[in-house]
Amino acid sequence: MSELMSDPMSGGPRVLHVAAEIFPWVKTGGLGDVMAALPPALAAQGVDVRVIVPGFTALLDALPLTDSVRLRTPFSSERVRIGLAPLPGSAVKAYLVDYPAFYDRPGGPYQAPDGGEWGDNHRRFALLCWAAAALAQGADPNWRPQIVQCHDWHAGLTPAYMRAANAGVPSIFTVHNLAYQGYFGAGAFADLALPPEMFSVEGIEYYGGLSFIKAGLYYASRLTTVSPTYAREIQTPAFGMNIDGLLRTRTGVLTGILNGVDPAIWSPENDALLPRRYGVEAVEDGKAAAKQALRQRFGLGDMGDGPLFGAITRLTWQKGFDIMLQALPGLVDQGGSFVLLGSGDRGLEDGFRAVAQAYPGRVSAEIGYDEALAHLITAGSDSILVPSRFEPCGLTQLYALRYGSLPVVRQTGGLADTVVDANSVTLADDSATGFAFDGETPDALIGSVQRAATLYRADPSAWRRVQRNAMRRDFSWAAAARQYGALYRDLLNARD
Ligand code: ADP
Ligand code: GLC
Repeated sequence: MSELMSDPMSGGPRVLHVAAEIFPWVKTGGLGDVMAALPPALAAQGVDVRVIVPGFTALLDALPLTDSVRLRTPFSSERVRIGLAPLPGSAVKAYLVDYPAFYDRPGGPYQAPDGGEWGDNHRRFALLCWAAAALAQGADPNWRPQIVQCHDWHAGLTPAYMRAANAGVPSIFTVHNLAYQGYFGAGAFADLALPPEMFSVEGIEYYGGLSFIKAGLYYASRLTTVSPTYAREIQTPAFGMNIDGLLRTRTGVLTGILNGVDPAIWSPENDALLPRRYGVEAVEDGKAAAKQALRQRFGLGDMGDGPLFGAITRLTWQKGFDIMLQALPGLVDQGGSFVLLGSGDRGLEDGFRAVAQAYPGRVSAEIGYDEALAHLITAGSDSILVPSRFEPCGLTQLYALRYGSLPVVRQTGGLADTVVDANSVTLADDSATGFAFDGETPDALIGSVQRAATLYRADPSAWRRVQRNAMRRDFSWAAAARQYGALYRDLLNARD
């Protein structure tokens, strides 16, 4: 019997999480939120959890290092410092891979300021993975993980390095998004310091090149993704992004664990970014104040008695906002107004600028990234739109539920697992929390928008009941942490 987790409070297992983002210092999407919230939730349940992330400048500037080790690596002539920093407000410590030549750069974590991927991303993230594998082999004399959990392609080589070194520690690879695979040409392999036999179909080779995510999916002991429905979907050709075959071979070790909401950041009761905080009892006042602030900020005119729809999103194919653009005239016809905060694809950015001009006072878009405005839109909108083609979990609809802003979502992935469509049955038994549609067409989306607009206008008391249902749904990180805890126990017991 393993020494671990028979009693979760008595020195739980040591688990290292490997990732590229962590809110509030480095975030391009939901991964950053997850890495900020999941480790503390695990720590609260007795897991001895640490995180390892690239030492991006924003992190090194913000977090004082209390300890460090220096490692010789295949990626640098000098030793690389792996610094240790406590994360403020939690028991979690983070290792920062302090290698300025890789991580002290302008732009985002993956891209240069002009939006192009950095040409040496394979080496930048290989170093992260290599350092994580070194910790698994005992590089820090004070703390050696018993499990390594790797998030998305940036962490995907970690299980390969662990296997190559016979680290003797089990690993988990967690898929947050199968669309980003860390694909590089075959020539990149020589830079990775992996044994040549790993460049194989039974390994990290992928369509003639190599794929970091494939390495994770192939070599990790267990696989998870961020919702049960996405766990099933990615084993099908429609959602499998050309790697569903491998996932089907690993079906026995693949599970879906839904993300949660961090109430310290996302709850209308505590949200200092709102003009007026509110709970389930004072929804109307709180939302009216936020809506008024949004009207001013976005230059919205008289909205009549129609609902205000909002969206906060990366503008990529995944998110379905090309479909939204086509559906916008229908939304306006329904008496709706619409505000968008988003950035990404240049064509979509231009498209939203153009519709904002076509419907002044009714449709408005802010192209950019703005954490505070995201909170205001979540609170001030009557409904948040998430028309994604696929959505591993999705956090904006979870935040919308908490704020009583009824989500309109495509029925896929985590959206299907978290939003209960309002129909005669779910309205009657008070389980409805939003509106869901099937299919990738503007008409399908408009159908749900219409149902939302009608309920909002014609039956305000039913709308308020659905708001209450939505706000009372429990998407706590504690629930996710319990499921990861069970997985850790299982993995360690399997090794006895
Ligand atoms: P994904 O990770 O695929 O982008 P999620 O719904 O899981 O989707 O998470 C998105 C996160 O990023 C949320 O916290 C959301 O509020 C935030 N976000 C996305 N776009 C923007 C933006 N333009 N400005 C501010 N926050 C944004
Ligand atoms: C990814 C997914 C999103 C998920 C997030 C956090 O970016 O696109 O659905 O919520 O990761 O797990």
